[in-house]
Parts: sequence; C-alpha cells; structure tokens
Amino acid sequence: MSIKRHPTRYLGEEYQRLVRENLNWELRELQGANEPVCTVDGREVIMLCANNYLNLSTHPKLVEAMIAETRKYGAGAGSDRSISGNMTVHEELDRRLAKFKQAPASLTYQTGFMANEGLIPQLCGRGDLYVSDELNHGSIIDGVRLSHADRAIFKHKDVEDLARVMDEAEKHEPAYKHIWILTDGVFSMDGDLAPLAGIAKIAKEHGAGVYVDDAHGEGVLGEGGRGIVSHFNLSREEVHVEMGTFSKAFGVIGGHITGGEDLRNFAYNKSRTWLLSGAVPPGVAAACIAAIDVLESEPQHVRKVWENREYFIKALKDLGFDTGNSETPIVPVMCGESKTAKDLANFIWKKGIFALPIVYPMVARDKARIRTQLCTKHTEEQLDKAIEALREGGKKLGLI
Ligand SMILES: Cc1ncc(COP(=O)(O)O)c(C=O)c1O
Repeated sequence: MSIKRHPTRYLGEEYQRLVRENLNWELRELQGANEPVCTVDGREVIMLCANNYLNLSTHPKLVEAMIAETRKYGAGAGSDRSISGNMTVHEELDRRLAKFKQAPASLTYQTGFMANEGLIPQLCGRGDLYVSDELNHGSIIDGVRLSHADRAIFKHKDVEDLARVMDEAEKHEPAYKHIWILTDGVFSMDGDLAPLAGIAKIAKEHGAGVYVDDAHGEGVLGEGGRGIVSHFNLSREEVHVEMGTFSKAFGVIGGHITGGEDLRNFAYNKSRTWLLSGAVPPGVAAACIAAIDVLESEPQHVRKVWENREYFIKALKDLGFDTGNSETPIVPVMCGESKTAKDLANFIWKKGIFALPIVYPMVARDKARIRTQLCTKHTEEQLDKAIEALREGGKKLGLI
C-alpha cells in the first residue's frame, strides 16, 4: 500500500480547474416552452440558439398525438425493443420514416447519439478503415473509438484531400476489407454542408460505404425537409447510411438510420445501444409520426425557416459581420478570440437576445463565435431586435 487514494476528491478539483480556465458550462434554465420568445433565468428573451428549427415541439398535432398515445398505451414501452418493448407504434414510425425519405428501410433509435454510437462501431472492425471529416460531431468520433478498425482523417469538406487519403489507404497491406467514409451533413458549429456528391463519387471508385449524419439537415434540407440525400438528389446506392435525429427540426427526440433493408436488419441485430437500452415511450414515437405528417401536409414551415435565415444573414453581412461559411439556418457570427465571443453573447443577453458563445475547445482558439440558429416562428420584428443588438455589440467590440 503506497499510494494514498481518495475516491472522489478529483471530481471537485477537475470542476474547479474548468471554472478557473473558463471552460465550464453555465446552465441556463428555460422556464416554459421552447418558443421564439421565452423566459430564461427569469428574463424574457428572443431565442436564437434552439435546434427547434420548425417549432414543431409545440405544434398542436404533435402534442395531441403524444397525449393520445400515452393515454392509450402508457408512459413507457416497458422494455427494450429487442425484448418486449417493440410496440406497433415503433414499427409504424420506422415504416413512415422510410416512406417519407423514399428509402427501402429505416430503423429508429432512442437518440441520434445512440444511433451513431450503436451502429458505427459495428460497420468496421480489425482490417477495416474509417475515413472521417476532421470536424465531425462527437458522437461519430465516439462511435469510431469503440471499434478496433484503423482510422484516417480528411481535411474539412475537402474532396481532393479525401481522394488522397483513399489512394493512400489502397496501399495498405493487407488490403482493407471494408472502408466507410463518415461525415456530418450539416456541420453544427459552422452551418456548412458536406460535399456529399463528391464524397459519394470517390466512395464509389473505392467500393467504400458513405455514412452521413444529417442531424441538422433533417426537416430543413431537401424536398419538404426530406434531408441531405434528397437535397443532393443522390440515391441509396450512393449514400448507404443516412443518419438523423427527431430532436431538432422534428421537435421531439429519437434518432434513426435510413438506407437499404440489409442495413436495417444488420443495424438492429448489431447495435448495442439499440439492443441493450429501453425503447422510447409510445407517446414519443407517436409525436415523431405526427411530425412527419406535419412535414408532408404543411410545407410552409420549411419554406419560412429558410426565408428567416436569408433575411437574417443578409442583414448581418450588410452590417459587415463575418458569418463564416454558413449555408443553412445555423449562422455563426465570427468573433475570433473567446473573450470577444463571450462579451458579445453577454452584451446581447442584456438586450434580451439568447445565443451561445462557442469557444475553444469546441472550435479552434481563433475561431470563437456566437452561433445563432433561426426558426420558422421568428418574426421580422424579433429578428430586427436581434440584428440591432448584434450591431451595437459588434460596434462596441470592434467586430464591424
Ligand atoms: C451532428 C450531430 N449528430 C448527432 C447529434 C445527436 O443527436 P441527438 O440529439 O438525437 O442525440 C447531434 C446533436 O447535437 C448533432 O449535432
């Protein structure tokens, strides 16, 4: 017995270090529904940092569907889907989603994170290779970490670099049996899009699989919000796994993978997060189906979020702000230093605007920004108020 151990002291020490280095999360409390104007920490603010792009979380059809299904079938599914919790509503959601996406099959998971963490480690093992965009989401990174396969990184959105990495990979001895290229569809910190057509072309040349995480494109991109595969007009032979989430534009919670029948059968037999964890409550699955119904019958929601995005980004650009490479309703306001981003977020917070500063280590040290996210129900008046607050703060901090 030489080392003097304490079971938990380091927890507090680590937290204090995060506070000292300004790396801790300070949680704000949303006191009511997630709406364009809401109450946060006792202050009425315009919400500019929600994933609720279409405001479906409070859509009456979703709320009613959730209540009705819950009254009929209870608060929980009672088991994992793999055991006895696979209710009719879960199967219906899988089928409805596949139909919406014009794909042979979908499999829904409890969350998008669990879809990535469950399926990705099963796609590759020893003797295989993942090739990943350098800015992919943490759930892809964690999925890759759970596998024994080799991994290679290509420069963000750089198809030429991807081609180089793939050519290098072909020199490996013995030859890799399977290669999967993994990419976010919409990159959540910048709001830019993966060059999916170029990626699919290179993948085809090498017989590699293409896996796209469309969490932020779901319900926003493509015909009627059908997602990134629809946006680029690609086929299921070109993009083999389209992964997505119900927690953002769909306004509920849950994840999915969409592709061929073989993919679905493989995924539910192999994903440990799916096999070994409880099914989403029936009310949640019913609300997700209602979200699909709304997307199919009320196309105005998708149209409006794009109109709001165009209005907002044009105004910011006209003022001289750097909005990075945004191509979607995620619009970063680039600030450079972490301190500037935090100061700007605080400034607009005091003016009644809620948007988060995104700082190192979430982004590179000199790429701190405020990430704004537009939604369908923002009014022009609300957006003007946010633009004016950013203008004042931006001037004060020398950004414009
Ligand atoms: C790119 C990306 N993938 C996956 C997820 C996880 O989705 P979910 O909220 O359904 O777990 C997120 C959520 O932040 C995301 O941004």
